[in-house]
Amino acid sequence: MKPKLVRTLAALRRETAKWRKEDLRYAVVPTMGAIHSGHMELVSEGLKRADRVITTIFVNPKQFAANEDLDKYPRDEDGDVLKLGKAGTHLIYVPNPEEIYPEGFCTTVSLAGPAKAGLEDKFRPEFFDGVTTIVAKLFIQTGADFAMFGEKDYQQLKVVTRMAQDLDIPIEVVGVPTVREEDGLAKSSRNVYLSRQERQQALAIYSSISHAAERIRGGLDIQSATRLATRTLMALGFKVDYVTVRNAETLAPPQHRDEPLRIISAAWLGKTRLIDNISV
Ligand code: PAF
Repeated sequence: MKPKLVRTLAALRRETAKWRKEDLRYAVVPTMGAIHSGHMELVSEGLKRADRVITTIFVNPKQFAANEDLDKYPRDEDGDVLKLGKAGTHLIYVPNPEEIYPEGFCTTVSLAGPAKAGLEDKFRPEFFDGVTTIVAKLFIQTGADFAMFGEKDYQQLKVVTRMAQDLDIPIEVVGVPTVREEDGLAKSSRNVYLSRQERQQALAIYSSISHAAERIRGGLDIQSATRLATRTLMALGFKVDYVTVRNAETLAPPQHRDEPLRIISAAWLGKTRLIDNISV
């Protein structure tokens, strides 16, 4: 079925009001477009929990720094609508910019805790304020029961979960396991920027954190395991921002080996920044 597309908050609310009248539960999948199978998986997971799924498409300028790829960010609304229709989304919300940032807009939702863990926030200082501000708006505008987020952006998942909790937004944030290419590379809208050779090299990010996680489980100390992974990536031509192990919930540095742990990494390959993480 072709999903309905709405561009205004009023039209979005007309649709969700009909669902509420019928006692239907619905999930939201926030995206910036450039839909790939990772997003389609979020829609499928949404359909398992809810009767209806809304996907939002908005390339959010507030989460891009001046030197980042806002203008270059891939945009293909028609292609996205087709893919989302196949995935089973019922409604697509592509807000006109003034529905998100109307004239005079001056509110920022800003978190400490997981948003200041010294991971993405250290390298992209504007990023999380931009994400939490728009995600708070999308949660409130849609009024959804569930929000589907990929584990690939692990810090983002933990930040928006904490934000919903702190602001009493009645939505359940659901983390969905990362969808990977056959060789293990995490699916990402940014993978299209990789040259053929870089695409080959890129899988090293997943294999090196997988080996590090195995080594930690096997008893190697965390520092040695992450140092080894960092060196492997550097030897393969990556510029490593971080490879680190954190508490899987708070993202704080671990205090004990028996905490739930996550190994989290970010590294540049040429002009493309890749991120990945897995549980230890
Ligand atoms: O993960 C993304 O694509 C974006 O950060 C999000 C959650 C859609 C907010 O703009």
